[in-house]
Amino acid sequence: MNKQILIIDYGSQYTYVIARVVFELGFYCEIVPWNEASTWLKENNPKLIIISGSDKSVYAPGAPTIPSDFDFSGKSYQVFAVCYGMQLIAHNMGGIVERDKTKSEYGLTKVSVESDHFLFKGLPTEQDVWMSHGDSVTQVPEGYTAIGTSKAIAVITNTDNSVNAVQFHPEVSHTLYGKAILENVVVHAGCVPDWKITDHIALIQKEVREAIGDIENPSAVLGLSGGVDSAVAAAIVAPIFGKNLHCIIIDHGGLRKDDLSIAIETANSLGVSYEVIDTTAEFLTALGAITPEAGQEHSEQLRKVFSKGVYQNIFDEKVKQHGAHFVIQGTNAADLTESGKLGTAALIKSHHNIGLNFVVSELMPLASMYKYQIRALGKALGLPEEVWNREPFPGPGLYLRVVDTVITKEKLDIVREADHVVRIVLKKYGCLEHISQLVVALLGTRAVGVKGDERVYNMPISVRPVVSTDFMTTSPFYLSPEIMLEIETEVTKHPNISRVLWDYTSKPPATTEYQ
Ligand code: XMP
Repeated sequence: MNKQILIIDYGSQYTYVIARVVFELGFYCEIVPWNEASTWLKENNPKLIIISGSDKSVYAPGAPTIPSDFDFSGKSYQVFAVCYGMQLIAHNMGGIVERDKTKSEYGLTKVSVESDHFLFKGLPTEQDVWMSHGDSVTQVPEGYTAIGTSKAIAVITNTDNSVNAVQFHPEVSHTLYGKAILENVVVHAGCVPDWKITDHIALIQKEVREAIGDIENPSAVLGLSGGVDSAVAAAIVAPIFGKNLHCIIIDHGGLRKDDLSIAIETANSLGVSYEVIDTTAEFLTALGAITPEAGQEHSEQLRKVFSKGVYQNIFDEKVKQHGAHFVIQGTNAADLTESGKLGTAALIKSHHNIGLNFVVSELMPLASMYKYQIRALGKALGLPEEVWNREPFPGPGLYLRVVDTVITKEKLDIVREADHVVRIVLKKYGCLEHISQLVVALLGTRAVGVKGDERVYNMPISVRPVVSTDFMTTSPFYLSPEIMLEIETEVTKHPNISRVLWDYTSKPPATTEYQ
């Protein structure tokens, strides 16, 4: 297969997102680290090279550079660079890159572009884009012109339009026309569509087979939660492991009302063998022993005990029981990025299933995919819509939604009931399908209420409906006063709930979950 598109990775947490958008557009591409690009180019003949962003400054000691044999003439291939990639080109070609605080930009930013340039064909001159840069190009190199500006130079191109670069991130969904810009780039480079989602399933299966190597009769333990990630992971690897795929459904006591039955239905619809393991007592004992005194560290402690204290042991036991060679998890790119495990991203929040040391190797077939892409795979794999379109739910479940207070079975039961009631009302009004994730949590601050004629002192329930595609950012889903009133009425029928709070904070600054 002729490889038309190469993405050179300079360490940005968004490099994989560029690749996924390119795939979605129907084009195959490969990602190669910057210091291996020369070797790759000796063996391949691409039409387009995309240079990614980076966490570095071009002035940082040992900052990654452009390979010395790189061809900027436009004769071999076209070049499109993103963020650090643009600074690298400017710096290399004699332009000026500076750390000028008045020009640095983070988040949603307006740019004005020359819409008659091919990059912006069919697009408006004013656009919202996602920026994340401290350094800026303050002077373009000779032979280049700036064709887009924000506070800084936002877009540059060379005389024959074969080298183009943008300071913003076209690959993230916040850049409104980002996908269209990337489409203009691949089409202008003369690439022809050569990729389908079903090819992607085959690619992941190939990667899994490569990881298995020459192991005879390979077998694996896979944690099936009933969520879309683990279901898709199971559907992809099931044909490879056959009867040797041992799915486990862990009932840890922090599931919502219908989670267990949905997980069992999912396993049945996939036709995989599974076992339900009730570990409520173990999890409750371990997690109930953590006091919230640690402040901000409390939630990290919870995850640590959940994952390394109990979760990992269950997998290890099952691996030993089945003599399995692998543990398989449906960990996705957002989980890895926020846990600081993908590219060079900082740790925002560790995830329960990341960074574990199982007794055998771990396979993460979906590690480079974001939720919406995993949904597309699920759909292509023929999973039922209730599975591929299911709302995400964190592995530690309701344990993360009893906030800043010692976790007890009683508190888990209260939040489980409240979650159930809120869902019934939202479903009745047809809202649930528009909400990407609903967080109903019990907040560990007691507040006074009146029940009957009595004064009560209870912890409030918070209701947080969010909308998101990739969960790297979220926006609030606002409910009408009528719906809020009905939820409040229904939820406070519970003898231990006397107050409902509405959380309409975006991410950032707040994360989706409370801890
Ligand atoms: P945050 O709270 O970081 O969550 O905005 C982003 C998405 O990840 C889910 N989440 C988790 N999922 N284990 C998981 O499997 C975890 O420890 C975990 N923490 C957060 C969260 O529910 C949201 O969908």
